[in-house]
Amino acid sequence: MDISHRPRRNRKNASIRKLVQENTVSVNDLIFPLFLIEGKNKTSEVKSMPGIYRLSQDLLLKEIETCMKLGISTFDLFPNLDAKLKDKTASESLNTKGLYLSTIKKIKKELPEAVIMTDVAMDPYSSDGHDGYVKNGEIVNDLTLEILAKMAVAQAQAGADIIGPSDMMDGRVGYIREALDDQGFSNVSIMSYTAKYASAFYGPFRDALDSAPKFGDKKTYQMNPANSKEALLEADLDYNEGADFLMVKPAMSYLDIIKLLNDNFNIPIAAYNVSGEYAMVKAAGAKGWIDAARIRDEILLSIKRAGASVILTYFAKEFALAKK
Ligand code: PBG
Repeated sequence: MDISHRPRRNRKNASIRKLVQENTVSVNDLIFPLFLIEGKNKTSEVKSMPGIYRLSQDLLLKEIETCMKLGISTFDLFPNLDAKLKDKTASESLNTKGLYLSTIKKIKKELPEAVIMTDVAMDPYSSDGHDGYVKNGEIVNDLTLEILAKMAVAQAQAGADIIGPSDMMDGRVGYIREALDDQGFSNVSIMSYTAKYASAFYGPFRDALDSAPKFGDKKTYQMNPANSKEALLEADLDYNEGADFLMVKPAMSYLDIIKLLNDNFNIPIAAYNVSGEYAMVKAAGAKGWIDAARIRDEILLSIKRAGASVILTYFAKEFALAKK
């Protein structure tokens, strides 16, 4: 046969395959999301996320220390709050003695090397379970911005390194950037949830935090999964409003969006490999239907190959353990 190009030559043994490998996932690329609960020495597994636990402050600190030894440096924290603390205006988010802010402060004091990312949105603190302020059944954009900016400043004061607005209100990146700068936090970064889709993949996360909306859905602020041009519009806005990272969420079903943003913007693209994506792999793995560890690695690699240089994933710790 006269075949001039034989791509199989570059696959003929493991060494050559390694030599021509285009992408790799490293522990350095990963951010580990962690769930925080009240109490001492308390842990409770998230039912729909086997291997993922809500941890009280003391155990969370230990977990961060363990993960740092494995090479994970950045952690994204989410609080699970008692329903009694939730109200219309998410006021608990400003409580410096409350669970979230006091824990951030403690981590930064005891483990100053840990990079702490925080979530800015009203849902964990809101009696309505929405990311924004609710009035007559509507999510009111501009009133929400004021609440989010105060929340972001409070988190920066507690020591947050990266602020992650996950709310999808219009104009929030610029509004938060200005508030942070005004208060002297020009070194605090913003990783914007830029293209955050109204997705069923967030189900297990809402179980973890008991934060599901009390009415309706999030479709008036999170994006329609059918759209990609709209992701470019959101990215343009966030970039121009001063975002340091642009995030796509979820990841697996949105690899085209990751590539689109990476092809068009010269700042790092992050992807959130969300709770439902984790749950599917764990569930099928537990049934013996798939090789969950290999699938985990293949999923992370595909997200990296699509163009995300940062991946938020519940697999972070087990990936780090597996690569040790
Ligand atoms: C809340 C928030 C959500 C996630 C991160 N921040 C859920 C939502 O928007 O309802 C989802 C994360 C996951 O599913 O792993 N603003």
